Amino acid sequence: MKNNKVYIETYGCQMNLADTELVRGILINHGYELTEKTDDADVVLLNTCSIREKAEERIYGRLGNFKNIKNSNSNLVVGILGCMAERLRKDLMEEKKIVDLIVGPDEYRRLPELIDVAFNGGKGIGVQLSKTETYDDLIPYREDGLQAWISVMRGCDKFCTFCVVPFTRGRERSRSLKSIIKEIEQLSSRGFREVTLLGQNVNSYSDNENDFADLLAACAEVDPLVRVRFTTSHPQDLSEKLLQTISDHHNICNYIHLPVQSGSNRILKAMHRTYTIEHYLNLIEKARQIIPKVSFSTDIIAGFPTETYEDHLMTLDILRKIRYDGAYMFKYSPREGTKAYKMKDDVSEKIKVKRLQEIIDLQQQISFEKNQEQIGTNEIILIEGYSKKSNEYLAGRTDGNKVVIIPADNGIKTGNYVKVKINRATSGTLFGDFVDFYDVKSDFALIA
Ligand code: 5AD
Ligand code: SF4
Repeated sequence: MKNNKVYIETYGCQMNLADTELVRGILINHGYELTEKTDDADVVLLNTCSIREKAEERIYGRLGNFKNIKNSNSNLVVGILGCMAERLRKDLMEEKKIVDLIVGPDEYRRLPELIDVAFNGGKGIGVQLSKTETYDDLIPYREDGLQAWISVMRGCDKFCTFCVVPFTRGRERSRSLKSIIKEIEQLSSRGFREVTLLGQNVNSYSDNENDFADLLAACAEVDPLVRVRFTTSHPQDLSEKLLQTISDHHNICNYIHLPVQSGSNRILKAMHRTYTIEHYLNLIEKARQIIPKVSFSTDIIAGFPTETYEDHLMTLDILRKIRYDGAYMFKYSPREGTKAYKMKDDVSEKIKVKRLQEIIDLQQQISFEKNQEQIGTNEIILIEGYSKKSNEYLAGRTDGNKVVIIPADNGIKTGNYVKVKINRATSGTLFGDFVDFYDVKSDFALIA
């Protein structure tokens, strides 16, 4: 097959990383080969993100680069996949003449056919959203490794007023438990040690027989050596049954990403987040009772329309009250088509920047203090490989999702579970010493 080399770049969330693996699987099944170099490529695909304006600006910048490549290789097919394909199909077609292919998140099955259209000089467009597409029967292409993303549900029905996802990814729908379990069994036999179950709103998973807690329990039971993580949780759907399931399984990580977005009830209402701060705090307390070692992270938006200084102080206050282990913090970015877009973006850029910085500074201080508290304690980590900075050190991750750096000796290998003693900490990283190898299976027997 000629014209068969595909290069893919991925932007945005983990869901997009998982979708890229799905796209790779589909294309390889149709005789395509992957390439790591744009120079080699016959097809260049950008899997894009629309969540904030900045994300889209980056893609436009990148398209500028491809224009030059296309000047010297006029047969090159350039395609936009993902959220921007869905949101900006018209703009992209009319204004960005170099784009030959526009394929939204629910049309990836048609990619081979649409690429053919583009090779024949047409425009390959597939932007229908689906109420049922979950790609349940397709096997994503994954390199061998330790950690895999598994998308278990797609879309979102929450319609937070600031968010474009319900428009770019459509309605919620879930894969079958059976096919997810089969995928984990295959990953386990290939030596994978960690899976992260993904969904925009993962705890509203339902395949009509099983809810998310059932799914999580079934995933954990596949292999005691495979850790299970999940993201993202919405506070409305984090049930007591789910918390109990996490507590009951040693290989479900004690870590919950639970975006709060704001500390002000008035702003939460304007965001259509469907909970109050009181409800949220109760949930955190309940989780800490049921899972004593649980870690939390959150998402925060600074400068949502009408946010006052008092609202901002409430957000800082909630960070102090909850003491998250980590946070993803953003300036509000108006997104066309959302409800909030109709509100006046009335917090000035200067004030957004200032508030965001205050939020970041406070959270960094809290993360630092929380990490300092871990000095002297033991943690079990899964070794992921050499540290980024040096081959004399290994990096692993705790159950609570913190990176720990330890010296690379004692015969420790990637994929080992080891017990370490924490001896130093910054706001982002823990440092430790090897204590012992950790036998997950015998520990599992003790717990079970
Ligand atoms: N502006 C800023 N941040 C946003 N997010 C989603 N939409 C916007 C927006 N329009 C943030 C939310 C969400 C995370 C994935 O991105 O905090 O939880
Ligand atoms: Fe967007 Fe809200 Fe859905 Fe998350 S829950 S994807 S923030 S609409």
